[in-house]
Amino acid sequence: MAKKLINKITIVGCGPGSKKYITGHAVQHIKNADALIGSRRLLALFPDVEADKYTLNKNYKPLITRIVSLSKHRKVVVLVSGDPGFFSYAKLIIDKVGIENCEVVPGISSVQLAFAAIGKTWSDACFVSLHGQKDRLSTLIKKVKEHKKVAVLTDNSNNVKLIAKRLLDEGLKDRKIYICEDLSLNKERIRKFDVSSMQKFR
Ligand SMILES: C[S@@+](CC[C@H](N)C(=O)[O-])C[C@H]1O[C@@H](n2cnc3c(N)ncnc32)[C@H](O)[C@@H]1O
Repeated sequence: MAKKLINKITIVGCGPGSKKYITGHAVQHIKNADALIGSRRLLALFPDVEADKYTLNKNYKPLITRIVSLSKHRKVVVLVSGDPGFFSYAKLIIDKVGIENCEVVPGISSVQLAFAAIGKTWSDACFVSLHGQKDRLSTLIKKVKEHKKVAVLTDNSNNVKLIAKRLLDEGLKDRKIYICEDLSLNKERIRKFDVSSMQKFR
């Protein structure tokens, strides 16, 4: 079992990006923090919070050691986008220090918002993340063949163009695809296509 830390590390889900989707409970934790750790985008949501701020980027592995040592004497709050339980940095922290040294504050996930925006249920969906992942397209195709509804997290490299091309190549042209971008933000865009009409994404 992991050694007990003096202060629990609080991992706070900040929702999909707009402040209106951050819960009051999450805000309370953030306001009480001595040290706030998160992406540049998430830290920018809290300019008035006086905690020391540490930017999380590609340094996420060495930063865990820092987070652990900070939490010995200070209230450390780690900000993650959406919900901590859904493809987030939370798993790395919990695996490292043990759940007894963490408090997890849930947030609204980008997928919850996406399903709400298109008016579909997500209880019957299957989830795949291509975010920061290499060679996961085959897994996605397998899931699409096995399930009626698949929600996919993309990133700049694993993008819609790439996915559309692969779906077409696999003959999955009768499926519908919803593209939900920048949810809750000013540039939010939600589009629906038949895979067969996605040649233009090639
Ligand atoms: C590291 S994952 C984190 C997922 C997060 N824990 C959640 O519950 O939404 C980041 C990916 O989530 C998706 N995402 C996060 N915020 C989003 C938003 N506002 N609109 C659309 N997709 C979003 C994108 O696919 C992004 O690459």
